[in-house]
Amino acid sequence: MKILLTGCNGQLGTDLRLVCDGVHEVIAHDTDLDITDRAAVCERVAEVRPDLLINSAAYNDVDGAETNELTAYRVNALGPQNLALACQATGVPLMHVSTDFVFNGEATAPYTEFDRPDPRSVYARSKYAGEQYVSGLLDRFYLVRTSWLFGTAGKNFVKTIIKRGREQTGVRVVDDQMGCPTYSRDLAAKLLEIAATGAYGYYHASNSGSCTWNRFARDIFILMGIKTRVYMISTKDLARPAARPRYSVMRSLALEMQGIEPMRHYQEALADFLLRDLPAWEAGEVEV
Ligand SMILES: NC(=O)c1ccc[n+]([C@@H]2O[C@H](COP(=O)([O-])OP(=O)(O)OC[C@H]3O[C@@H](n4cnc5c(N)ncnc54)[C@H](OP(=O)(O)O)[C@@H]3O)[C@@H](O)[C@H]2O)c1
Repeated sequence: MKILLTGCNGQLGTDLRLVCDGVHEVIAHDTDLDITDRAAVCERVAEVRPDLLINSAAYNDVDGAETNELTAYRVNALGPQNLALACQATGVPLMHVSTDFVFNGEATAPYTEFDRPDPRSVYARSKYAGEQYVSGLLDRFYLVRTSWLFGTAGKNFVKTIIKRGREQTGVRVVDDQMGCPTYSRDLAAKLLEIAATGAYGYYHASNSGSCTWNRFARDIFILMGIKTRVYMISTKDLARPAARPRYSVMRSLALEMQGIEPMRHYQEALADFLLRDLPAWEAGEVEV
């Protein structure tokens, strides 16, 4: 399959290139193909004529979006609109990635693809706007929501908390937000499985299991043998600019319906990430 990939240097984009290596032809772009530039996007899609376009480009600064609303909407809503219009003009299917943050977090059971979004921050609303453009403009789209990503490329909670744990005798981590940590390499592989179905529509794709950020930090420290103390704090104590869902655990009902294996437990994925893939990446042993 010939895949045109945007956001190729991000966490997911990097892992998509890795899992496609030797299997699919990938034409990869990052900020050299600005998805907010409609003419450039349309020209490139018409030139490449891929079998599938995967968009992993996004503006992911959840707190920054509160003060950079227009940037968030340009990248997370106008970008997908441009990609969808380019796909519409060329008949190319689009796989677009969205977030668990489109839900308000008031549920007490995992959200399925059929639950109603109710985004509560600028970032979340901009991502939801992107979903609406994709689903409104195209017949052939895969809209895949994921959550709490960690991967070898880029910044993420896992890398940040390891650094803090090594430098400090104690760390304070929120214990009242629950979600599904997800390894971007596992997600990349699952995206390819979804793309092979031809069953267009919405999907939830996160590693199985769920936890709070506090529990996740403890899991990370145990695997890394880091002895720092982990204190429980609340979202209120942290006083971040953007609201976050209290509970954003997702159920992959669409995968279940398609008979596709659920993603493995996040603790298993985390162990592979920390003990195998991240050291290899940091040692420069991985070529992408
Ligand atoms: N990270 C998470 O925890 C999380 C959770 C749920 C859902 N998601 C979604 O999962 C997808 C992948 O996330 P990720 O963590 O892999 O993202 P990421 O690491 O932030 O990568 C995004 C990439 O897109 C690039 N980019 C930004 N603006 C662009 C533009 N206008 N045109 C082209 N490229 C642009 C970025 O470049 P710069 O770095 O130079 O800006 C970066 O290389 C996104 O849709 C994201 O919203 C992420």
